[in-house]
Amino acid sequence: MQDLSAQVAATGWYHTLELAPGLVTDGMFDLRPWVGRYGLPDRLDGLRVLDVGSWDGFWAFEAERRGAAEVVALDLDDERELDWPPRRRPAEDAFPPGPRGAGFALAHAALGSRVARVVCNLYDADPADLGTFDLVFCGMVLIHLRDQLLALERIARLCRGTFISAEEPSRLLDRLPFPASRYLADRDAAVVYWMPNRRGWRAMLRSAGFDRVREHATFTVPSRRGFAVRHVVHHASGSVLAGQPVPRPRRVTETRPVPVLGDRGDRGSPPSPPPD
Ligand SMILES: C[S@@+](CC[C@H](N)C(=O)[O-])C[C@H]1O[C@@H](n2cnc3c(N)ncnc32)[C@H](O)[C@@H]1O
Repeated sequence: MQDLSAQVAATGWYHTLELAPGLVTDGMFDLRPWVGRYGLPDRLDGLRVLDVGSWDGFWAFEAERRGAAEVVALDLDDERELDWPPRRRPAEDAFPPGPRGAGFALAHAALGSRVARVVCNLYDADPADLGTFDLVFCGMVLIHLRDQLLALERIARLCRGTFISAEEPSRLLDRLPFPASRYLADRDAAVVYWMPNRRGWRAMLRSAGFDRVREHATFTVPSRRGFAVRHVVHHASGSVLAGQPVPRPRRVTETRPVPVLGDRGDRGSPPSPPPD
């Protein structure tokens, strides 16, 4: 316990997690008072659950606590792989030296968890490798991505049941009576490419292949570093892409000469008859 406390104190935490009675991580976000607002079912017995962009694993461990049969926590180990606008990309030597996931590993061991951490970019997540899930949770990930619709489409392929999405909506654009998104890639703060309004998130979930989409809640979560993040939670189901593998990119394998139509009267002329 002494040793564990020292390791916990020496680790940087995104999530506040209670790892043992009285042993709580100093996370940037304490989601414990807010868990009830997301509409996660009380019990998940027998279900396969995917937590996308898990970081220290708060939602993955919560799903396990609620009885999920299997939980997969997907994330990246290398910050170089995050989406960076080129001018905002840190210099190579400014990235953290070690892989991410130390907090998750420590929490995993302390909790005696069976959650499987999969290191994979969401853009590459494929039901052909990971299978499909009864519940997919994705919180505050899409807001940081350049291609939100591609990421949503990847989730739709992985989701055979319900998708719970929690993202930040634009307060400014929420005044508009139609779906819209603010472009923010060049602002001087955490990388956010696009911040849709609530209608925008809803419309994108539908475009990505979910037949049933409803807004579940909106609320604002304070960080423990002095700022707060507005959340909109959607529940989506009826994915028309569930289980469909990601199409492989087609490479150029052959270049064929394109016949050029001359201007000597052969345009539109009938093909010559085959030789006898
Ligand atoms: C702001 S944190 C959110 C953590 C957690 N989901 C929550 O709701 O508290 C965003 C997480 O998404 C992960 N992430 C960002 N881009 C990703 C990508 N392309 N593929 C997989 N994970 C990604 C980050 O590494 C980070 O752990």
